[in-house]
Amino acid sequence: MVNKLSITKKSSWSLVLAAKETVYDEQEHSYLISIEKTIRGVKYILVYDRNSETISKCNFIIDDYNEMLFSTFLPIIFNNHHKPFFIAHLAQTLDGFIATDSGESKYISSRENLTHIHMIRAISDVIIVGYKTVALDNPKLTTRLIKGPSPMRIIIDKDNRLSNKYNVFKNSDSNGYKIIGDKIKTNKDNIFQLPLDKGRFNEQDIILLLNKLRKKIIFIEGGGVTVSDFYNSNILNRLHLCISPSILGKGRPSFITKTKQSLDEAKCHKTKYSKMGQDILCDIKLS
Ligand SMILES: NC(=O)c1ccc[n+]([C@@H]2O[C@H](COP(=O)([O-])OP(=O)(O)OC[C@H]3O[C@@H](n4cnc5c(N)ncnc54)[C@H](OP(=O)(O)O)[C@@H]3O)[C@@H](O)[C@H]2O)c1
Repeated sequence: MVNKLSITKKSSWSLVLAAKETVYDEQEHSYLISIEKTIRGVKYILVYDRNSETISKCNFIIDDYNEMLFSTFLPIIFNNHHKPFFIAHLAQTLDGFIATDSGESKYISSRENLTHIHMIRAISDVIIVGYKTVALDNPKLTTRLIKGPSPMRIIIDKDNRLSNKYNVFKNSDSNGYKIIGDKIKTNKDNIFQLPLDKGRFNEQDIILLLNKLRKKIIFIEGGGVTVSDFYNSNILNRLHLCISPSILGKGRPSFITKTKQSLDEAKCHKTKYSKMGQDILCDIKLS
């Protein structure tokens, strides 16, 4: 029997990034995908089964951390959807808030969860956030905490209120865009325009735009209003909900959904749990 290699956390993450770069035929009958990466002269090999969403073979030791990393990210990267795959993440308190009333949210969750968010960014093709997240938080939406590419960012800003002075538009890669209403006159080039229906963009029009841009993995990073919109429209495939052991009492809610009149109406979603610093991450499969 051949002894298996040991692998560091950084090297396992490099394998996830290599998975993102792996070209495979989505129509292929074989569900097995081979991912290889040579790191400091050592070749790591992993064979992933897209059908069962499991690792069928590898030449290194899989500990709890690797297990969590691969079982979280490989099903997203090698998803079996023919449409864009939507993943959302929210960090909330025990009583269901993502920020205080005034919009303070830095940081509800642990450093480990922050790193996890940067990892989702790195395997995504585009990050989408609502107008209020940028107006209140002024995030950069880059992958600066980890190794990996920073994808395109799109802000939903129907009235074109956000000026280019916000961090998301000032990153050196100039990859920050806005979706604004199609009746607004503008000559800026970091803008997409879509029709509004009763003051809202239809999520299907956003999907058409993402298809045109050939974006396949879409990360809805908040806030609660925007994630809820995609959830309510049954568009989300995965939801990562990080629960921090704190209580706010009042604040901006994570979910705004139609009220259920009975417990029978509330769906119980298939969920995988993992510890993330002081928090619990719920990896929720929605489709
Ligand atoms: N803890 C976390 O995980 C987390 C993550 C992200 C943000 N945050 C915090 O959450 C707060 C903001 O969240 P939020 O829920 O209040 O707002 P939000 O989701 O950031 O933004 C909501 C706004 O986005 C626009 N929008 C979204 N979907 C739209 C659609 N389909 N059509 C047209 N416009 C659309 C609307 O802007 P209009 O006003 O133009 O109608 C809407 O009011 C901030 O305090 C931020 O710090 C927390």
